[in-house]
This record gives sequence, C-alpha cells and structure tokens, in this order.
Amino acid sequence: MRTLLCIGIGMGEPDLVTPEAARALARADVVFAMDKGRGSDALNARRRSLYDALVPDGSARFVTLPDPVRDRESDDYLGAVGAWTDERAERYARFLRDELPDGGCAAFLVWGDPAFYDSTLRVAEEIQSAGYLDLTVEVHPGISSVQLLAARHSISVTRVGRAVTFTTGRRLRDEGLPVGVDDVVVFLDGECSFAGLPAAGLDIYWGANLGTPSEVLIGGPLEKVSTSIVEARGRVSGENGWVMDVYLLRRTRP
Ligand SMILES: C[S@@+](CC[C@H](N)C(=O)[O-])C[C@H]1O[C@@H](n2cnc3c(N)ncnc32)[C@H](O)[C@@H]1O
Repeated sequence: MRTLLCIGIGMGEPDLVTPEAARALARADVVFAMDKGRGSDALNARRRSLYDALVPDGSARFVTLPDPVRDRESDDYLGAVGAWTDERAERYARFLRDELPDGGCAAFLVWGDPAFYDSTLRVAEEIQSAGYLDLTVEVHPGISSVQLLAARHSISVTRVGRAVTFTTGRRLRDEGLPVGVDDVVVFLDGECSFAGLPAAGLDIYWGANLGTPSEVLIGGPLEKVSTSIVEARGRVSGENGWVMDVYLLRRTRP
C-alpha cells in the first residue's frame, strides 16, 4: 500500500501553511510537481523553497511530471476535462508505481486548498476506482486564495442568511451573474469577465498574486474600479510573467 498526501500549501508562504500540513510534508518520500507550462516554473520554485523552509533536513525527491495537454478547443468542456483527468490518473499511477516503493508516501503540494477548483482529489479518486494500484489518500487542508482575499480586504465572504456562489470567469462571461445570489466568488478568470457586467449596484473585492511579493488589492464600486483592475492585472502579469486573481462580486442593493 502506498500513501498519497494531498497537502494544501496556501500561496506557498511558510506562515500560511498549517502545522498539520507541515507535518504531513515531512513524511513525504517523493514530492510530485506538475509542469503546466507558463508560470509553472515560478510556482514549482515556490513549492520547493516552501519544502526547504518547513523541512530543513528533508530528503524527499522532487519529481516533475509533464501535464497532459487538455483539449481547450472542444465544445464538450466536461468531456474534455474528463478525458484529461483519466490521462492524468494513468500518468500519476505509473509514476507512483515506478518512483515510490510499496509502503512509501508521495505528496502533491496543492496550491491553496484542494477543495477549490483543483483536480488532485478527482485524479486520486480515479486512480483508486480504476484499480491502478492500492493507494491511501490523505487530505491536509490549506488556506485558499478566497480566504486570503477575504482576510486582506477584512471582509466576510458570507452575509447574514445569504447564499454565496463560487464560479469561474468562463461562466460569468457566458451566463452573467447567477440569478438570486448576491455574493459571487470568481476564480479562473483570465479575461476580466467582470468588465462585461452591468456594473451598477455591484461592489468588487479583487486580489492578484495574493500571498506573494507581487500581491495587489483593489476594492470598491465596480463602475469606479473596473478599469484600474484591468490595468493592474496586465501590469502584474507583465512584471512577473504570471498572474492569478480572484474576486468577490457583491450586490450592494440586493
Ligand atoms: C486552479 S485554481 C486553484 C485554486 C486553489 N486551490 C485555491 O484554493 O485558491 C486557480 C485559481 O485560483 C485563484 N488563485 C490561486 N492563487 C491565487 C493567488 N495567489 N492570488 C489570487 N488568486 C489566486 C485564481 O482565481 C486562479 O485562477
């Protein structure tokens, strides 16, 4: 039996990693990282220096796996993601079998928390259900970008008795704000989809590269700050070679 540790590492800052996650990290014999192309090197470098900071005498091997290419042109979005997950599961399983002796522990250092828009747990479940190998999966939570966003803006994501929706930039672009919801957290928006919304009556709390030296925060009425956010996003991307941003849209007149 092998063990797969799915460890939430927040934004890669040692201070934002829980002691439980740090203890799990110290048990890893092998640490897997994915090569996802643009920006991957910078994030994997943060994973490596986090390991060195939290496990100074650690001797885990770091193995970088090339990520399968996802079909981004397909009209069948869920089908394309399913095929990609299957391919990843097969690839991870092969590496786990080849690189990890029976009884060993491998770790995936998951950006933020595995519960938010991350495929690691889906892939781990696929490895188990496809019977590729005997695997125990452990999850150790981390601070998600949405929690850091709320903390940096000193706000609560929820309001009394209200619902919150988590969604993606793609859905916001295609479907607009969900009906009947006054608070929407948007991940994975490479296109500034907020800029296409009717802005009246909406506040935005936005953050890019949270928890890193290039962190930027902007908040306020959407009609006033939309343009500055688009500009700031472009600037952060240009200066760092990558940008990740997350935001809360809040109806002020529900
Ligand atoms: C694949 S999802 C992973 C989310 C991650 N599991 C989490 O808990 O934050 C990537 C998205 O998370 C958000 N994100 C991740 N890191 C971020 C950061 N440091 N600053 C702002 N947003 C971030 C962005 O919306 C990005 O497009």
